[in-house]
Amino acid sequence: KKLIIINGPNLNLLGKREPNVYGSLSFTEFFETVQNKYPQISLEHYQSNVEGELITKIQDCGFTYDGIILNAAAYTHTSVGIGDAVKAIETPVVEVHISNTFGREAFRHESFISPNAKGVILGFGLQGYELAIESFV
Ligand code: DQA
Repeated sequence: KKLIIINGPNLNLLGKREPNVYGSLSFTEFFETVQNKYPQISLEHYQSNVEGELITKIQDCGFTYDGIILNAAAYTHTSVGIGDAVKAIETPVVEVHISNTFGREAFRHESFISPNAKGVILGFGLQGYELAIESFV
C-alpha cells in the first residue's frame, strides 16, 4: 500500500502551535513513530502553507496512490480549489482534523473537502491520522 499524509497551512508548527488545542508533539516525531508502526506500508508526508502547492500534490498522488490522508487545515473551510482537486482524482481521500472542528467557531463547521471524502475523522488529536491509516489497511 502506498499512502500519503498531506498537511496544510500552519501544521508545520505542530508541537509549538496552541498546544492546548493541537498537542505538544511535533509532526516529525509523531510521523517517525507511525512509520515504525506500519513497516508494511509506504507512508509519505507532505506539508505546505501554499494552497496551489497542496492542489498540485493532490493531483500528483491522486491517480497512483492507494490513499490520501488530508488535513487541509484552514483551507478546508475556504478552498474551492482543494475541494475540486479531491473531486477530480481517483485515489480515496480521508479527511482528518486534529481538533473537533464542530466544537469550535462556526466558520470551522464548513468543509469543501467532506462532500468528496471517503470519510472524515476529527477530534482525536494526532491519533486521527493513525485511525485514517487503519481505514486503508
Ligand atoms: C485543523 C482545524 C482547522 O479549523 C484549523 O484551521 C487548522 C487545523 C485541525 O486539524 O484541527 O489549522 O484542520
